[in-house]
Amino acid sequence: MSQDAELTLIMGQRGCGKTTVAKALVKSERRVIAFDTMGEFAQMRGWKVAHDRKAVAQAMVKAGRGGFKIAYVPPAGQEIDALHFLSEIIWRYQEAAAEQITLLVDEADLGIPKHNLPANRGGVKQLILRGRHRGVNMIACTQRPALISSSYISNSAHIYGFMVASTGDIDQLVRTFGRQHKAAIEGLQKFQFLYRADGQICTGHTMKSGALKVNSVRT
Ligand SMILES: Nc1ncnc2c1ncn2[C@@H]1O[C@H](COP(=O)(O)OP(=O)(O)OP(=O)(O)O)[C@@H](O)[C@H]1O
Ligand SMILES: [Mg+2]
Repeated sequence: MSQDAELTLIMGQRGCGKTTVAKALVKSERRVIAFDTMGEFAQMRGWKVAHDRKAVAQAMVKAGRGGFKIAYVPPAGQEIDALHFLSEIIWRYQEAAAEQITLLVDEADLGIPKHNLPANRGGVKQLILRGRHRGVNMIACTQRPALISSSYISNSAHIYGFMVASTGDIDQLVRTFGRQHKAAIEGLQKFQFLYRADGQICTGHTMKSGALKVNSVRT
């Protein structure tokens, strides 16, 4: 596992392009599990659909040393429990794995919420805080930046911010990207984003083709 495993956060209101970014990011990844609350990855060619955790674990074991793309569609309303147990499966699997894995979490304000989770639901927190040591990358998408775990935000190496509507969500983007970018945040159009990595901020946009265009550095 040569490169460090990293966290990515994609924030923005409904229909602005978050899943388009997530799909582009995992396209060339070999081992991906999507916590697919909307069942969107489940419909994509090349993805194996799992409706329970046992099926996820079986698909991972069956893949052996090969790659896999698994869409786990959790039971509605049980996102916290489902993501906790899925995280534990990934944590154990990665103990012996020679390769990195990527966990993609859609509607992450449900599974990785701002409020504290009970101690017996600490699986996802373990991945956020210690997943780097087991080669676990994460990509989280949320419509509600104000409602997502602050430790996820602060540990994210890559942050995409699309347009948001509510004051709380705008404030969260301003805190994340910096006050000097407030006007840029408020001026974002549909499919446009700010991208922060390595302390630098760029603008960019998604394309209808599903590709991403990242522009030159702003700061
Ligand atoms: N530049 C673009 N021009 C036109 N359509 C686009 C562009 N970028 C993405 N799309 C399309 O817009 C739709 C919404 O994008 P996407 O699903 O990525 O949004 P989202 O932020 O994930 O929405 P949600 O919050 O509802 O999950 C998709 O059908 C996508 O293919
Ligand atoms: Mg989406």
